[in-house]
Amino acid sequence: MEIKKAELVAVTADPKQYPPDELYEIAFAGRSNVGKSSLLNLLTNRKKLARVSQSPGKTRTINFYEINDSFRIVDLPGYGYAKVSKSVSESWGKMMERYFETRQGLLKVIQLVDIRHEPSKQDVQMYDYLKHYGLDGIVVATKADKISRNQYQKSEKVIRQTLGMKPEDKVIPISSLKKTGHEKLLEEIEKILID
Ligand code: GTP
Ligand code: MG
Repeated sequence: MEIKKAELVAVTADPKQYPPDELYEIAFAGRSNVGKSSLLNLLTNRKKLARVSQSPGKTRTINFYEINDSFRIVDLPGYGYAKVSKSVSESWGKMMERYFETRQGLLKVIQLVDIRHEPSKQDVQMYDYLKHYGLDGIVVATKADKISRNQYQKSEKVIRQTLGMKPEDKVIPISSLKKTGHEKLLEEIEKILID
């Protein structure tokens, strides 16, 4: 699949302002700073479509991007940023729950984890949450340029084990910096949309 058109159609924490639930959606989840916005820019081949933050925790809203006028990629707010208050993390939880529970068009949530580290406790919680909703199955290992290719297999194994992934589930290493791995993800997205 080639992304020819990408457009930010809604930035909101309020379900009343979500775009109409009439297109399929594929969302990106992951801790703050893991590289969600950078991946979106890579996939859409647009440098500044999604804001890439120098300071983590920038994306506090759900950002809906309409792709090729036919489906949406949804950038979910990052979790696990240490400096947020309890009330902020509670409202984050409510925002995610409302989105996951009400969105008819939501087909899959792609979980992003940093290729260098064992997934955190919150990554595991998030992935369990996705399993609960039947939205799991694809994990992107970000910042793949930070390790050498011969370390990929070992990282993948750690990610698979820590998240408790099924053998048929996918781990896709991607570098938004070096622009590698995204074709594979686009193929998977295409499969999900066709199914
Ligand atoms: P929040 O919006 O805060 O949740 O963060 P995010 O997940 O959207 O991360 P973002 O894309 O803003 O990237 C965070 C930082 O990681 C930025 O400084 C990026 O330049 C850097 N980064 C993202 N992807 C890569 C990558 O593939 N390789 C390297 N080396 N750095 C990356
Ligand atoms: Mg972001």
